[in-house]
Amino acid sequence: MKLLIDDANVQEIERLMKIYPIDGVTTNPTIIARTKKDPKDLLLEIRRIIGKDKLLFVQSVATDAEGIVEDGLAIVECLGENTVVKIPCNTEGLQAIKALSKKGVVCCGTTAYTALQAYLVAHSGAKYVAPYVNRIDNMGFNGVEVVQQMQNILDNHGYDCQIMAASFKNSQQVLELCEYGIGLVTCAPDVIDNFINNPSIDKAVDDFTKNFEAVYGEKTMKDILNS
Ligand code: E4P
Repeated sequence: MKLLIDDANVQEIERLMKIYPIDGVTTNPTIIARTKKDPKDLLLEIRRIIGKDKLLFVQSVATDAEGIVEDGLAIVECLGENTVVKIPCNTEGLQAIKALSKKGVVCCGTTAYTALQAYLVAHSGAKYVAPYVNRIDNMGFNGVEVVQQMQNILDNHGYDCQIMAASFKNSQQVLELCEYGIGLVTCAPDVIDNFINNPSIDKAVDDFTKNFEAVYGEKTMKDILNS
């Protein structure tokens, strides 16, 4: 399962890239606006930080099909290969997904709340669909189950479209989808940190260090093996 950062804070992206096996970054208009930076400078900076081989998802902001297509072409032209255009899956967005996919632009249908949206996105040619797990939970449905239903539809019909599950608020939601075999997840920095934020891990490491140092002193394996 690919792991992406759902944030545009460059310090956080640099920090998380150092620690975790990160496959890319996803943004949306709200995430970009939160930084108050110039969007072009910001996106180019993110592309520079993650490198040209990682995935970068950037959302269109135009609201009509023609404008979304123009946004999509500008996004891939500016940010290069491995850039995916996120497009809301409403009636205008689906028209744009069909048009951009025909031109070879890799699209992700975003704002997916229902399994039939995923079907329409995949059938329109998008390579990714982004369901909003926590927002579905907040509507009184089970976000994880809706994503599993989407995965079943994509698998049963053999669509070349992967689920990039989004809008997580806790690591349990991620765990259940990881176990199910979902292709990608995108998570805010605090959700990713919580994958290994566990006092038992720190205690185990402290105990190993204390027990070793009590007998051999403050030495590393390199100090000992090279002496
Ligand atoms: C990513 O594709 C979505 O834009 C994002 O995960 C939405 O997350 P939120 O529900 O926390 O805003």
